[in-house]
Amino acid sequence: MAAEPLVIFTPSGRRGRFPEGTTVLDAARSLGVDIDSVCGGRGICGRCQVEPSFGTFAKHGITASPDHLSPAGEQEAAYERLKEPLAADRRLSCAAHLRGDMVIDVPPESQVHRQVVRKGLTVRDFVVDPVVRLHYVEVERPELASPSGDLMRLFEALEREWGLHDLAADLDVIRALQPALEAGDYAVTVAVHDGHDVTAVWPGLHDKAYGVAIDIGSTTIAGHLADLGDGAVLASSGVMNPQIRFGEDLMSRVSYAMMHEGGAIEMTRTVRTALRTLILGLATQAGIQPVDVVEITLVGNPIMHHLALGIDPIPLGSAPFALATDRAVRIRASELGLSAHPGARVYLLPCIAGHVGADTAAVILAEEPQRSTPIRLIVDVGTNAEIVLGNQDRLLAASSPTGPAFEGAQISAGQRAAPGAIERVRIDPATLEPRVRIIGVDAWSDEPGFAEAAEATGITGICGSGIVEVIAELFLAGVISADGVIDGSLAERTPRVVADGRTFSYLLHEGFAGGPRIAVTQNDVRAIQLAKAALYAGVRLLMDHLGIDAVDEIRLAGAFGSQIDTTHAMILGLIPDCDPAHVGPAGNAAGTGALIALLSGAARTEIERVVRTVEKIETAVEPRFQEHFVEAMALPHRTASYPNLSTIVTLPERPATGEGASATRGERRRRRVLAVGGPEEA
Ligand code: FES
Repeated sequence: MAAEPLVIFTPSGRRGRFPEGTTVLDAARSLGVDIDSVCGGRGICGRCQVEPSFGTFAKHGITASPDHLSPAGEQEAAYERLKEPLAADRRLSCAAHLRGDMVIDVPPESQVHRQVVRKGLTVRDFVVDPVVRLHYVEVERPELASPSGDLMRLFEALEREWGLHDLAADLDVIRALQPALEAGDYAVTVAVHDGHDVTAVWPGLHDKAYGVAIDIGSTTIAGHLADLGDGAVLASSGVMNPQIRFGEDLMSRVSYAMMHEGGAIEMTRTVRTALRTLILGLATQAGIQPVDVVEITLVGNPIMHHLALGIDPIPLGSAPFALATDRAVRIRASELGLSAHPGARVYLLPCIAGHVGADTAAVILAEEPQRSTPIRLIVDVGTNAEIVLGNQDRLLAASSPTGPAFEGAQISAGQRAAPGAIERVRIDPATLEPRVRIIGVDAWSDEPGFAEAAEATGITGICGSGIVEVIAELFLAGVISADGVIDGSLAERTPRVVADGRTFSYLLHEGFAGGPRIAVTQNDVRAIQLAKAALYAGVRLLMDHLGIDAVDEIRLAGAFGSQIDTTHAMILGLIPDCDPAHVGPAGNAAGTGALIALLSGAARTEIERVVRTVEKIETAVEPRFQEHFVEAMALPHRTASYPNLSTIVTLPERPATGEGASATRGERRRRRVLAVGGPEEA
C-alpha cells in the first residue's frame, strides 16, 4: 500500500503523514502548526492562506509537484469573487486538499502568534498572542422538538467547531444574539475573550476587531489604536490631560482631592471624558467605528490609575502610600463609560508601589530588564522620575520627586517642547558664544537659512532637553562652576554674562522680531540642580541596594528622556557614568508596554509575574537619600567618578571643596522637602 502523503510545514518544520484528501488546514491543525482562521475552514475569511512550494527537497527527501494539491476550485473562486484575488502563489489552506507529498509555507500574516516588527513606535519586536479571538460559527436553527435556547446552541456550535468550552456570555451578547442569528441566517461571528467569555456577536462573517492602548500621563494622554488580529497600529494620537486644571503635578492633584469635597470624583469624570475623546479621535483617524473597539489597555502612574478607576487617591499622598490594589485590573469598558463596543474589556497593568505605577510596569514590559544579563538602569523622567534597576536576577524600582523643572516649569524661559523652543545648545569655550537649534528648524543658528526658517515660529523659550544642554555646556565652558554658580567675573570677558540682582545670568538669545530675551538665570541652574540631584539620589539608592557602583546600560524613557542628549545628561550628572555606547533613549516605553499588553496575553501573564518580584524602594523613608541628594547637587557630582564620560569630554577640574557649604537656607529647606517625598515645597 502506498504511503500516505507527507506534508512539511515551514517555518515551523512540523511534519506528518495524512490520508489523501485531508485539507492542508486540518493537517496543520493536527500538527499544532499556527495558522489563523476566523471562519473555521469555510473559505470565506481568507486568514488561512499558505504558500505551497514545489520541486525536489533533498533535505526533506521529497518531491512536491503541483498535482500533489487539489487544484483551486469553486471555494477559492468564490472567495476571490467576494473578497479579493489571491496572490498567484497562495492557496486557502482550508480549500486545498493533499494528494501527495508537499512542503507548505505559512507566511507571517497567516499566523495567529505572529511576530510584530515595529519601526520607531516600539523599541522591540514581540509576538502577538491575542486576548480576543473572533470565531465564525453556524448555529443550529431552533426546533420545536428540541427546544434549547439560542445561547446554548451557540455554545454547542463553538464547542463543536472551535473546541471551546466553559463559555459564558455577557448580557449584551444574549440580547444581541437573536437578532444577529436572524440577520446572519444562523451564521454569526463572536468575539471570545480569554478563551471563555463571549463578549460580542455580529451577524455573518466579521473579521476585524480593534483595540486601544492608552498611557495616561499627568500632562498628556497618548493612545494607539491597533488591529487585534495582526497587531498593525492604525492610529496614534494624544490629548492634554484636562486634570491639569486641578494641579500641574501629581501631589497638587492629591491636594485638590483632599481640599475639595467631590474633587476626586470631578477629576475621575474629567479624565474619562478625555479618554472618550481620545478613543473617538483614534477611531476617526483609523477610519473605523468606536463600536469595533473590543479591547483597551490602560497604564498610568498610581494617581492617574486610581483616578481613572474612580478610586480615592488620597492614601497615595502620604506615607505609607498604600495602593488600593497592586494587581492587574480587568473590567468592562462600560464601567468607565468609555466609547467602545458594549462588551469591550479594559485591562490595567499592575501598579508596583505607591509611587511606582502601571506605567512603570509597562516600561518594564517594553524594555525587558528581567531578561537582561547586564545591569540595566531605566529612567522615565517626568514630574516624578520612575527608576528601574537590575537584570534577570533582581529588579528594583523607585520613584524620585524631580519636580517639573525638566518639563520647562520653574525655569525662567522654560516651555514645553513645541515649535520654536530651543532644544539643542552648544557653547564655544573660547568665545563663550552659543549656537542653538530650535524645534521645527533643522539648521543650527549659525548656519545659513536659520533666521528665515525660525521666523515662522520665533524663538520662544527653552524646552527640557535644551535646559539640560545649556547648563551642561555652560559647565563645560567654565561659565558655571561645579557647585552651580554662574561666574560673574566672566562679565568682563563676554556681554553674555550679565548681572541679575545679586547673581548673574547667561544671555542665550537676544530676541528678535518681538521674540523674548532668553537667559539662563542662577535660579534656573538651581532648579535643575535640585531636579537632577533628586533623580541621581534615587538612582544611587537603588545602586546601593543592589550593591553596585556602576551600571552596564542606561535607557531614558518618556518624552523628555527620549529628547535629551545622553552625553549632556551625563555631564550634568542626571545619570551615573556609563559607557556612552550603552546609553540611549527608550522612546515612549510606557505607551509601548501598553500596546504590547493590548496585543499579547502572554505578555500580561509575564508582567504580572515580574511585578510581584520587583523590590520596591521608598525614597522618602531612606535616610541615605538625603546624603546622596546633597552629593549630587554638584556638577556632575561631588564625589562620583566619570571614567567613561571622561573618554569623550574633558570635564572641568573638580574643586577641592564640595559645594554643600554654598547651599542657601532655602535650598536646604527644599532638599528636606524633597527628601520626604513631596515634589512641592510645603
Ligand atoms: S479558514 Fe477562513 S478562508 Fe480558510
